[in-house]
Amino acid sequence: MTASAVRPQAATAPDIDEIRAQFPALERVHGGHRVAYFDGPGGTQVPASVVDAISEYLLHHNANSHWAYPTSVETDVVIDAARAAAADLLGASPSEVAFGANMTTLTFSLSRAIAPTISPGDEIVVTELDHHANVAPWTRLAAERGAVIRTVRMHTGTYALDWADLEHKIGPRTKLLAIGAASNALGTITDVACAAALAHAHGALVFVDAVAYVPHALVDVRALDCDFLACSAYKFYGPHAGLLYGRHELLATLDVAKLAPAPAHAPDRWETGTLNFEALAGITAAIGFLASLGGSAPIGASDARRARLARAYDAIHARSELLFASLWDGLAAIPGVALHGVPPSDAPRTPTVSFTVKGIDSRTVATRLANAAGVFVPNGNFYAATIAERLEIGSSGWVRAGLACYTTREEVERLVSGVRAIANRAGKSE
Ligand SMILES: Cc1ncc(COP(=O)(O)O)c(C=O)c1O
Repeated sequence: MTASAVRPQAATAPDIDEIRAQFPALERVHGGHRVAYFDGPGGTQVPASVVDAISEYLLHHNANSHWAYPTSVETDVVIDAARAAAADLLGASPSEVAFGANMTTLTFSLSRAIAPTISPGDEIVVTELDHHANVAPWTRLAAERGAVIRTVRMHTGTYALDWADLEHKIGPRTKLLAIGAASNALGTITDVACAAALAHAHGALVFVDAVAYVPHALVDVRALDCDFLACSAYKFYGPHAGLLYGRHELLATLDVAKLAPAPAHAPDRWETGTLNFEALAGITAAIGFLASLGGSAPIGASDARRARLARAYDAIHARSELLFASLWDGLAAIPGVALHGVPPSDAPRTPTVSFTVKGIDSRTVATRLANAAGVFVPNGNFYAATIAERLEIGSSGWVRAGLACYTTREEVERLVSGVRAIANRAGKSE
């Protein structure tokens, strides 16, 4: 997957202290330590500017949309602003972005809209690498329509999709390829553009789950040439809300369950009932926050926010690459710790690592890290259940640590030494 071609200037990210000062959550203390949040892949912390935008809307502009009086007009402005911001984030047009509760709900609704185009014997291709939010809606659709689900295998050695299997599974009966841009459990990045080209060659539609990708890399839906793409704002410093990109002619014509109050035109026809306007205000602010990570140097391009986002993602990548390498190397050097995912030097990946500690269940590891080191990490299979099965992770699952824009070197060292202490103790009691 390629980032946008817009590259106005070298990335000069704001200072990490400046970034951190914007996140009140980072002041929290637990077990005598400033909390180190490594739970970004489950949901990042939120800068004050996002919360301010949400409360500004609710306190001063709150109304329903499309009426003549000022707060309603202002609400329409909030909706339009969010579509414009989301379009800049994804490289789309504002009329190609619909909002909803979260990625899963939007994907389910998309599956309902696609249903009439699926006939018995048609095929839907999903992958083992995917979060089940990008599997379950399609499995259900297939069962309802008498279609066949074909699942592309993951290589357990490289943690990547088995490309030969992908080529084998996509064929003349394929109606849809549902594929993730990045694995939320392993960090694997998949070449979605290449897979989309393959699917399109057979006349299939392509849906991309970019939930775990958007926080780390700039999406360009045109370069990907996908038909649909979904992501979630709460993974990129925003509120709990989902975004769905769809090619305009598809959003305009598919038989979405457009219930009576929704307008007839796209993308609004995809938005059932009253939108979460305050979340939309928060999404615009979150995208503004992301863009600010590229620094404030002048840009001079007409699509300034997209250009700033491109620069910001360069800066995010430059910082997290070094930090992630030291997290990986630190954990990999601990006896009894098994890392799952491709080493950062071997392939493009997101800065998310899942691991287990020999002889100790993952929930206990997470509890001890929180209490002894103020390190917050989640545990489980993260709904990447097929990966967990293939890798024989067992019922306690992994511990997962993901870097965010506010992660510091000290926090990475604290996580590594916390895991080392837990692993040493487990090793001695064996
Ligand atoms: C890769 C991936 N896809 C989909 C989802 C589901 O997103 P949502 O919670 O917005 O439905 C998640 C959530 O963690 C995810 O990580």
